[in-house]
Amino acid sequence: MFDIVVNGLRHRVDVVPEMPLLWVLRDELGITGPKYGCGIAQCGACTVQVDGAAVRSCQARMADVAGKEITTIEAVGKGKLHPVQEAWIEHQVPQCGYCQAGQIIQAISLLESKPAPTDEDINEVMSGNLCRCGTYERIRVAIHAAAEKIGGK
Ligand code: FES
Repeated sequence: MFDIVVNGLRHRVDVVPEMPLLWVLRDELGITGPKYGCGIAQCGACTVQVDGAAVRSCQARMADVAGKEITTIEAVGKGKLHPVQEAWIEHQVPQCGYCQAGQIIQAISLLESKPAPTDEDINEVMSGNLCRCGTYERIRVAIHAAAEKIGGK
């Protein structure tokens, strides 16, 4: 049994210690914003925040995240749109959308650590989040727009 806090709610889950967090979120708790992409932490579709840090949930073992605060796309903005989400809409970032929950979580983590990122900062941090639709240029523009909204620029 593990205790896990997801989006502010405490859950008790009966899973093996090796179970990836992504499986716990999707299959045990029905939280489907984080997506299964590659399963080996190489695409970023499953990205969530664990104690505020962007983490690939497909490779995070339950035993390692128990007791920590998990935030998924479902709780971003806490009931209203986060400035990153607003910028995503204004700049029409998503295409098919599959990767975008992970992209947004990664972008928020970037802006929390670096409020006024350069293109190089964005390229470096976002390079681990793959988009098969090629929305990278719009992602870069939207991150700059979100930084301005948040007040970093
Ligand atoms: Fe389709 Fe990124 S919007 S994979």
